[in-house]
Amino acid sequence: MPVQFSSKLQSLLIPPTRVVVFTGAGISAESGVPTFRGENGLWNEFRVEELATPQAFAAHPGRVWEWYGWRRQLIARIQPNPAHLAVAKFEKYFANCCLVTQNVDGLHSRAGSERILRLHGDIWEVRCVACGLHGTDLREVLPSLPPCCECGGTLRPGVVWFGEMLPAGVFESAVQAVESCGLFFSVGTSAEVFPAAQLPAIARRHGAYVVEVNIERSAAAHEAHEVLLGKAGEILPELAAHLQDTPAGRSTPETESR
Ligand code: OAD
Repeated sequence: MPVQFSSKLQSLLIPPTRVVVFTGAGISAESGVPTFRGENGLWNEFRVEELATPQAFAAHPGRVWEWYGWRRQLIARIQPNPAHLAVAKFEKYFANCCLVTQNVDGLHSRAGSERILRLHGDIWEVRCVACGLHGTDLREVLPSLPPCCECGGTLRPGVVWFGEMLPAGVFESAVQAVESCGLFFSVGTSAEVFPAAQLPAIARRHGAYVVEVNIERSAAAHEAHEVLLGKAGEILPELAAHLQDTPAGRSTPETESR
């Protein structure tokens, strides 16, 4: 059955609306990436404090790398799904469209999105704990403790762990985009991890029309003007198809507004 969108949402799906799409693990679920919470969620099977904290890495770096190696292997073998592709289309259509993701899987890039703020880092990046050197390493599985090519120090996955700060400036850029957008989508996130989970409330407080896309209501659903219940891989392509139907086409930066 086609998804019903409100006339308000339809009226905003035309440039020069400024759009922010905020995504979480649920957008990659239909590709085969496990989510963190809910049925079959990673945090039901694995313990956060053993795998996703700086203390866990300090105590058992090999075990942590092994787990990230397993996740890399899984992600390397799957493809972006129609939801990722639809988000990439949004970026082509709206001159001012910002993608803010909590996902580290890289599927948004593989689907063609270019302007991405990655709040929780990138599973394909590595960082030296000694000298801070950053790099991308696309090998599916890295040796259990790869040495830094600059200083020989220990490399760690380039992701944000619990208890760590987000990458410098990234959250601030996200807030800036959210505060000035007219349409905010929150897609496939439980909205339980802060500070990312604040974004729907910030969007609403600053006057954006907030739309949640999820198979169930998230912890931030009360901030949404409209909740579209269903799979992101079905709902987002319908929204993207609607873009093609509108005559307005892509806006230019000069004509942008909220
Ligand atoms: P969660 O696993 O907490 O939530 C996934 C959300 O996706 C849930 O609300 C599901 O209902 C929804 N969902 C599942 N399948 C869906 C589908 N096909 N279409 C739409 N929605 C679907 O994932 P996040 O909110 O991303 O952080 O988790 C936030 C952070 O917690 C992650 O970035 C990670 C994790 O611990 C770190 O590792 C720092």
